[in-house]
Amino acid sequence: MDYATGRTHVLDLLPKGDVGAEIGVWQGGFTDRILAHARPWRLYAVDPWVLSTDPLHRDAWYGAASGVDMDAVYAGFVRDFDADIASGVLQVVREKSATALGRFEPGSLGFVYIDGDHTYDAVRRDLDLSLAACRVGGLICLDDHCPGKWWGDSILRAAAAFLQAHEDRCTVRFSGGAQLVIEVTMGPDGGKGRTIAERQG
Ligand SMILES: C[S@@+](CC[C@H](N)C(=O)[O-])C[C@H]1O[C@@H](n2cnc3c(N)ncnc32)[C@H](O)[C@@H]1O
Repeated sequence: MDYATGRTHVLDLLPKGDVGAEIGVWQGGFTDRILAHARPWRLYAVDPWVLSTDPLHRDAWYGAASGVDMDAVYAGFVRDFDADIASGVLQVVREKSATALGRFEPGSLGFVYIDGDHTYDAVRRDLDLSLAACRVGGLICLDDHCPGKWWGDSILRAAAAFLQAHEDRCTVRFSGGAQLVIEVTMGPDGGKGRTIAERQG
């Protein structure tokens, strides 16, 4: 399956009219598609829009060497999505995911789409924090679940470690086209809630 088809499949799986978060937004290309497809009640767009000086990010879009003007990218995003921001559907969170995800009430999100810092520790942390933030039946979606140009096998390894650590609470719903979709099937207290399959009858 190619990348574009994989992403379309993720969009088809997202719960409709729900509350979700996109981690790593850039210019909003996928934000636009989430808004159009899932029609969320609220979507949090989380991105610090800053260049990183960490040597691990040397070859990333958001690495210092890229020379990108992140304030301009941010300004363009806010301009392009002004109507969604004004309506309250889109909430822009200009912070790193570790800060933003940690502030959500446990179980308050229906989905998270992770496409931020692609290093192992960051992806593992985003997955763990997303698990805490998502309700039972919610989806944790991970982009670039494939060997990468500069991130190597970090995302594959982080996802595998996460799934192993939480196999009692998580089930893989879809894997293909560099996308991984994980359903939260059990709460931290062992509460089952209702899974997506049960909610859809
Ligand atoms: C691959 S781009 C996102 C692309 C976007 N999801 C799309 O499909 O169009 C990665 C983004 O992650 C952001 N980013 C880097 N570190 C981050 C972090 N710690 N938390 C959230 N976003 C981060 C970067 O600023 C960059 O905009």
